[in-house]
Amino acid sequence: MFESGHTSPLSIATITSLISGVFFSLFSLAMGLSWELTLIGGSILLLLIFFLVKYLVEKFIHSKIKLIYKFIHQTKVSKREEFFLKNVLPQQSIAEVGEEVLQWADQRKTEMEVLERNEAFRKEFLQNLSHEFKTPAFAIQGYLETLIAGASERPEIRTRFLENAFKNTERLINLISDLDEITKLESGKLALHYQNFIIHDLIFDVFEALQLKIESKHIRCNIKKGCEQPISVYADKEKIRQVLINLVENAIKYGNQEGKIEAGIYRTDGNVLIEITDDGIGIAEEHLPRIFERFFRTDYGRSRNIGGSGLGLAICKHIVEAHGQFIQVRSKPGVGTTFGFTLNKNKE
Ligand SMILES: Nc1ncnc2c1ncn2[C@@H]1O[C@H](COP(=O)(O)OP(=O)(O)OP(=O)(O)O)[C@@H](O)[C@H]1O
Ligand SMILES: [Mg+2]
Repeated sequence: MFESGHTSPLSIATITSLISGVFFSLFSLAMGLSWELTLIGGSILLLLIFFLVKYLVEKFIHSKIKLIYKFIHQTKVSKREEFFLKNVLPQQSIAEVGEEVLQWADQRKTEMEVLERNEAFRKEFLQNLSHEFKTPAFAIQGYLETLIAGASERPEIRTRFLENAFKNTERLINLISDLDEITKLESGKLALHYQNFIIHDLIFDVFEALQLKIESKHIRCNIKKGCEQPISVYADKEKIRQVLINLVENAIKYGNQEGKIEAGIYRTDGNVLIEITDDGIGIAEEHLPRIFERFFRTDYGRSRNIGGSGLGLAICKHIVEAHGQFIQVRSKPGVGTTFGFTLNKNKE
């Protein structure tokens, strides 16, 4: 009759008073009292017990729940909440209150999960960071130590060691400036300076800036056939230069000796798609989902020590997304890789 899930002060008071009334009536009839007296006495008792139990149960539950509510809202109770606690809450069944508390617990659980994920992320980030700093710093220390210990007397070793120490210093500086960049991008502090410009010109600029590296691997760089017609885009030119430099640098680093790098530029609905394609080693499918993560490098990037710190693509993603656009990758090991990103077409 009364489901335990819907127990309320009202139902408890009704049951208790009915039971007491019935018992009282049976008892008084057994004691030989007239039925009129039994009826009057039973009714008075029933009403008394009903109101007493209802009042006491409500008071008890209210005092307990008020504590829970104050705790789960973790605030001093505001006027609105005070009204709720005084007037609305006592009307709710225990099941409804239970439901609300469960909802609250669910919310807290999700919050905890997010916090735990962030914590794991932070730990991993710090681990990566200290590892990335340690490698060049220890290398510099090693070269300098050897030089101080006497190697500086031998010109051929001295020059090589100084050059190596210099290279590692450069690596440290690059790492610091990449980190600085990524922090600014993540905190949204970096303002974008939009302008219209011809994306083809910027791509040629980037090919030219990387000419030495391109030539050292005898790579051919060009704009894809059919994509030669100049297209104007609306973006932060210097930031997009940075994106292109990293993509082309990657295409050189992970591309083949005497290979080919092609830039494709396509108009899409309201946007322009820019693709940088190489015919290099490619990226295994299992690595593709993580390729834009900070510090992520494939085993090849690590073992050959040709890769940098693995921040380049994370920076590219931030820059492209700060423009409200997206970047993606397609790749097949042994065949090559294509990175593509979109930009707004020029603003009139
Ligand atoms: N064109 C590509 N072909 C094959 N692998 C690539 C290519 N581009 C990137 N990768 C892989 O993705 C990883 C991450 O690239 P990313 O540009 O973020 O870092 P990086 O080039 O190693 O260092 P950084 O750019 O910070 O100097 C690289 O280490 C490499 O393993
Ligand atoms: Mg890179």
